[in-house]
Amino acid sequence: MSRIYDALKKAESKREHLGLGPAPIGMPPGHDPNAGWGHTPADPALAPLPLLGGVDLTEDAIRETTALRVNLENTLPERGIRAIMFSSAQAGEGTSTVSLQFAQSLAHGSMRVLYVDAHARRPVCYADDTQRYAVLDPRIASAAMAGFMTPNLAAIPATEEAVRAGLISPQAVRSIVDSAMGSFDWVIFDGPPVVESPDSASLAAQLDGVVLVLHAGRAKRPVVTRAVDMLRKSGGRVLGTVLNRRVHEIPGFIYRRI
Ligand SMILES: Nc1ncnc2c1ncn2[C@@H]1O[C@H](COP(=O)(O)OP(=O)(O)O)[C@@H](O)[C@H]1O
Ligand SMILES: [Mg+2]
Repeated sequence: MSRIYDALKKAESKREHLGLGPAPIGMPPGHDPNAGWGHTPADPALAPLPLLGGVDLTEDAIRETTALRVNLENTLPERGIRAIMFSSAQAGEGTSTVSLQFAQSLAHGSMRVLYVDAHARRPVCYADDTQRYAVLDPRIASAAMAGFMTPNLAAIPATEEAVRAGLISPQAVRSIVDSAMGSFDWVIFDGPPVVESPDSASLAAQLDGVVLVLHAGRAKRPVVTRAVDMLRKSGGRVLGTVLNRRVHEIPGFIYRRI
């Protein structure tokens, strides 16, 4: 927690050094992610908080997350809310980064988005000491976005109970989605890696489906196949895959023309 605080402080002093003044901590006018929160969740620890900070959203990431959104909208019928989980076969493939990129990109497109940190053994999103904000671990947060909020984006950090148990319960997942109905268009779960976490596949079964994040050049076919089998056996639906950290052999601007 103090690492996060230190990072926020460092980003803040960098802003001051650049003459940018303090970051706009506090709700921008007209932005209240809790507004209209359908049913109060039974567990107050599951209440959505404004998310301070974010991950880098490059032009490539915006293009790819937009294509992913279009595919998912075609696959998942409109039923008021779409609730999906990002996951991977193993840890470190980029699930948190890609799920946050997707959540931020949807929110920029005026969707009301709830991001849920569901990786209890390695969370990246914490409630700050005042319990009023969700903050990102500097391990994945963009320094440029420290202290900034994305309108339309709220977050539920990993709860202390989940972190203690090392897992989040399918009931908690269900309760989050039920409470989000009517207040959010998308709920994005940052899920635990399927092969390494006993809870991952059963969480997936509560949701509309799973997008598997694969670390390009590192994800191995037998491990990914095993993850897909485990998800399907538990009743989860694999909606597609995202190839993260793909290395472009030719410059990006040429890719866009071919
Ligand atoms: N596309 C990417 N470009 C640059 N760094 C990335 C990318 N995806 C992930 N990372 C970095 O790799 C590390 C692991 O990513 P993370 O999203 O935490 O993976 P996971 O959630 O699957 O464990 C983090 O330090 C993150 O910043
Ligand atoms: Mg993660």
